[in-house]
Amino acid sequence: MSKPDTLHPPLGFSTRAIHHAYDPYAGHGALNPPLYLSSTYCFPTVAEGTARFAGEQAGFVYSRVGNPTTCLLEERIANLEQGEAALVTASGQGAITSLLWTLLAPGDELIADQTLYGCTFAFFHQGLEKFGVKVRHLDLTEPANLEAAISAKTRLVFFESPANPNMRLVDIAAIAAIARRHGALTVVDNTYCTPYLQRPLEWGADFVVHSATKYLGGHGDLLAGAIVGPKAALDEVRYVGIKDMTGAVLSSQDAFLVLRGLKTLALRMDRHCLNAQRVAAYLAAHPQVAIVHYPGLASFPQYALAQCQMAQPGGMVAFELQGGIAAGRRFMDALRLFTRAVSLGDAESLAQHPASMTHAVYSLEERAAHFISEGLVRLSVGLEDSEDLLADLEQALAQV
Ligand SMILES: Cc1ncc(COP(=O)(O)O)c(C=O)c1O
Repeated sequence: MSKPDTLHPPLGFSTRAIHHAYDPYAGHGALNPPLYLSSTYCFPTVAEGTARFAGEQAGFVYSRVGNPTTCLLEERIANLEQGEAALVTASGQGAITSLLWTLLAPGDELIADQTLYGCTFAFFHQGLEKFGVKVRHLDLTEPANLEAAISAKTRLVFFESPANPNMRLVDIAAIAAIARRHGALTVVDNTYCTPYLQRPLEWGADFVVHSATKYLGGHGDLLAGAIVGPKAALDEVRYVGIKDMTGAVLSSQDAFLVLRGLKTLALRMDRHCLNAQRVAAYLAAHPQVAIVHYPGLASFPQYALAQCQMAQPGGMVAFELQGGIAAGRRFMDALRLFTRAVSLGDAESLAQHPASMTHAVYSLEERAAHFISEGLVRLSVGLEDSEDLLADLEQALAQV
């Protein structure tokens, strides 16, 4: 265990995000952990190599199943999510596919919420269904829907909270309790919140997945993913799901950058939340705005759940203009400081139109059925000065 962990337990979130599992006094005394650039590792003898392959001796073998830099990131993310173990991957998509290919078999049923990130939706229908997994979408914002639909075939329940892009929340504890009672596993995509704002495992979920490309990395300069859950299950994902099926291995250089990003996660999230709250309040009071979806507004239908489940309402805001999609397009084209781009969680504020971008893989009918309206605009509120963000929104709204 690293030195800071032994000094003053229990340590706070930021202290662990900066120090957990690395002792700068060990080795060469480097303040930052080493970046190991090695695809393979030597065995002192054939017998030791055999023992490592058999899992009887600790030690690295080949970086598709582990690298010291990526392993440090795994320890740190597991600690922050309060999980037994973590596994980092080449992208958020790599985390979701590696986990689900490992857990599911033909004939299993997956129940998912009605709102999902577009590529997760596409993977379920173009990947899992092709290989005999039945995918059902339910409105999981109402736990009774799960109770009514779950069966012995349901192996897994999957959702995001808040959901990308419309911000609907799911009561993690209620859904996880129903799933567990029926022998199903619960997987929560915690990308929007990060463990600083919400820890699904503490509410009873079995696994958490992340696009670490977003807030965990925090600077828009890498792709990465993570899975957190029980060690035995993650060993299977590592030695079968990643090693043999997806190969979605995170490079140690990107793991190093995510470790760097984690050091400022709490500071950044505090600022994202502060700015997003101001942006949401500004938009909610604007006559040209029809509706704002933000868990920090008292008008948000699931405000009470947000207050209980999330430490703060997050940095993502979705809204619709009076005038629908045409007005939304004019608004987006008029933005000067908000950058028109997909992704989220960066220092820069980003604006995108889900129906034509991140959720274009849904058909028009699917978007309507899955609560993704055609006029919805999604903002990832960044770390700039909030006055400048509000001024940009104001001049863009004036041009609609
Ligand atoms: C909620 C959510 N989950 C998963 C992903 C996929 O992550 P990545 O782009 O890192 O593969 C994204 C990407 O936007 C996302 O928003």
